[in-house]
Amino acid sequence: MQIFSNWLKKKKLTSPVDVSSLVTDMHSHLIPGIDDGVPDVDTAIALIKELAGLGYRKVITTPHIMVDLYKNTPEIIRKGEKQVKEAIEAERINIEFEASAEYQLDEGFLNHFKNGQLMTFGGKYLLLELSYFNAPPNLFEMLFDLQVAGYKVILAHPERYAYWHRDFSKLEDLKNRNVFFQLNMISLSGFYSLPIKKISERLIDGGMVDFIGSDLHSHQYLNLIEKALYEPYLEKLINSGKLKNHLL
Ligand SMILES: [Fe+2]
Repeated sequence: MQIFSNWLKKKKLTSPVDVSSLVTDMHSHLIPGIDDGVPDVDTAIALIKELAGLGYRKVITTPHIMVDLYKNTPEIIRKGEKQVKEAIEAERINIEFEASAEYQLDEGFLNHFKNGQLMTFGGKYLLLELSYFNAPPNLFEMLFDLQVAGYKVILAHPERYAYWHRDFSKLEDLKNRNVFFQLNMISLSGFYSLPIKKISERLIDGGMVDFIGSDLHSHQYLNLIEKALYEPYLEKLINSGKLKNHLL
């Protein structure tokens, strides 16, 4: 444990990375009460103010859509989006706000796809997350079908799927299939685990990261983001010129 904490402490930047060049954060849970994100509008507003303070000018929030846990629909999400937008205006926060979704590739996903109900952003970008326990057996077929239908698939936090940590070639395979990768900023702080931090750094070294997101759920995440701002790999990623956040 001591070795681990020493390792995390070493090689930090002396001043925080300026993330304002990202312009847009495209992964968060800021629609009140519909997933494991913010419970109410006041918390959403407090967190949005913090994002504005970090230099973000646009927030695309992405509530979970999961067949078992969070049966959200575009209507439910749009209703919450309207609520938050009104509060942003009332508070005069200078930030653009829109809602999309983070879809879990589960048994329900195919129905949403078939019904043409998928929520996207920035054109036809689709944020997709996978189970943390095992990779879906039909992953490559599903991705192919989505791409043929014109969706630009972004895989949420590829660094967090432990079943690929010893099989990095699977991640390379996905990149070769034109899947966009979105890294969680807090993965770099070592919050989830040391292997997740290391895979994140390997993805950055390989030039494989297209987007970076806060995955903001609560104030706790914000503290972790503030910690991640001192990570040399965050600086390396932002300076890589590979990120597309500002294009959204
Ligand atoms: Fe998320």
